[in-house]
Amino acid sequence: MSNQPWWRSAVVYQCYLRSFADGNGDGIGDLAGLRARIPYLASLGIDALWINPWYPSPQHDAGYDVADFRAIEPAYGDLADADALIEELHGAGIRLLLDIVPNHLSWEHTWFKQALAGDEAARARFIFRPGRGEHGDLPPNNWQSAFGGSAWTRTSEPDGEWYLHMFAPQQPDLCWENPEVIAEFESVLRFWFDRGVDGFRIDVAHGLVKAPGLPDAPPGALDSTLEPHPAWDQEGVHDIFRGWRRVADEYDPPRIFVAEAWVPDNERLARFVRPDELHTAFQFDLLTAPFRAPVMRTVIDDARQVLGQADNPSTWVLSNHDVVRHVTRYARSQPEQSLGGVLDRERWLTDEADLELGLRRARAAALVTMALPGKVYIYQGDELGLPEVEDIADHRRLDPIFERSGGADPGRDGCRVPLPWHGDQPTYGFSPDGVHDTWLPQPQGWAPLTVSAQDGVEGSTLELYRRALRLRRERFVGAPDLVWIDAPDDVLAFRRGSLECWLNTGAEPVELPPGTVLLRSDPTTDDGLLPGNTAAWIDVGEPA
Ligand code: GLC
Ligand code: CA
Repeated sequence: MSNQPWWRSAVVYQCYLRSFADGNGDGIGDLAGLRARIPYLASLGIDALWINPWYPSPQHDAGYDVADFRAIEPAYGDLADADALIEELHGAGIRLLLDIVPNHLSWEHTWFKQALAGDEAARARFIFRPGRGEHGDLPPNNWQSAFGGSAWTRTSEPDGEWYLHMFAPQQPDLCWENPEVIAEFESVLRFWFDRGVDGFRIDVAHGLVKAPGLPDAPPGALDSTLEPHPAWDQEGVHDIFRGWRRVADEYDPPRIFVAEAWVPDNERLARFVRPDELHTAFQFDLLTAPFRAPVMRTVIDDARQVLGQADNPSTWVLSNHDVVRHVTRYARSQPEQSLGGVLDRERWLTDEADLELGLRRARAAALVTMALPGKVYIYQGDELGLPEVEDIADHRRLDPIFERSGGADPGRDGCRVPLPWHGDQPTYGFSPDGVHDTWLPQPQGWAPLTVSAQDGVEGSTLELYRRALRLRRERFVGAPDLVWIDAPDDVLAFRRGSLECWLNTGAEPVELPPGTVLLRSDPTTDDGLLPGNTAAWIDVGEPA
């Protein structure tokens, strides 16, 4: 196992830079703040860090609207800070993945400004089309933006054409049939690889290529990524990524990729991780699954059977910057079956007792992902048990989804709130002393969740993560593949060599097998039983 490439069993920590730590006191996370917290990251026992887009951006979509791919957003620092960060992370044994956004760029990027100014070559890098209807005043097709509303915006000239934006109007889609676009992104990859960056997370990897002729989407596909859609998951994306793989393989050590690809099933996902393509791709089914053993088992099994064939086990994720934090998802009522619905966001205030249950379940689910074969992503704050922040005042909400849905969907701000480090009121040490507000407001009541309130405290979520990550590294990485153990409906149980992982999603305690309990998500129980909504790792010795 030790000669396996590092990424095959990696634990990657997602750093949402804007909300990680503020070094200069403007209420916005930055590189100075992050650099000062490298010892914290090292204390978690992670292999790598993924940082969300850190490039200059007008922030219409929290940095996913990139104005310049070869520089750093001034609020975060500059290239010298980035170089120092890379060196310091490597010194601490932590690799660095950046986030590349190839589907679209910011309308403030030079290319788009040139295009709007009428430069034909620049225009050909985007997807401009005449409108339908007598005066061209209807959008060219029926595609919807992922943030709500039409995916087309008309330019201001009287007979103006429309440009495509699968996200916000401030994020025009690029035309990947244009060789200049292909060349530009390979050059951007090299720019960062040359600086020592170890890889990239690829934003909207399933979106780059659109079906020829841009046909209307079937009605069922308009607001779902689970139905085939002419803007998503087209064959042509794979050639692009084969090219990227060749670039990554020119480096020593080779650089790696992880795809964000929302596709209908594991067969489609497996196509992104073929041997000459991307190394890894997020498997999002646990993130969309309710906390129900039979559903979770089906998810894990299907991913293993399909993705496992490529000898490249899944990349497990429970939360990220786009979804309601799993403490809060699990606090809500859990559907018996179904994938998908659990991600729907509504305006809601979850009550305290339910959040306690959500946290109990979140701790249990974390032990399951860490015991599985494959890679694991942790979203910053998961290790503190942070819930979604649900009561953000409307005038402080920044996610374009909030506005574009007319306020019906609260958007994603609630999972992006700045981390609490210490102290008993905002900014909880996120910003230096004397600062009282942050770019997104933090709630009251987070004192027990700060890093310093949990650091070294037996049974805290932070210590659970630290212990689990250490045990994972020592015992589970390189352990034999998973074998299911027969168990009651509400229980998910599997063995890897002499190690067993048990999860009880029901209400009644179940009996654990004899052996040494290595770790429990609820450390207050220590008899041979596994209570509801908890998980445990057991060393059963030599299997009979
Ligand atoms: C991805 C990102 C999300 C962003 C979108 C558009 O889904 O994770 O945050 O809004 O792409 O770039
Ligand atoms: Ca700052």
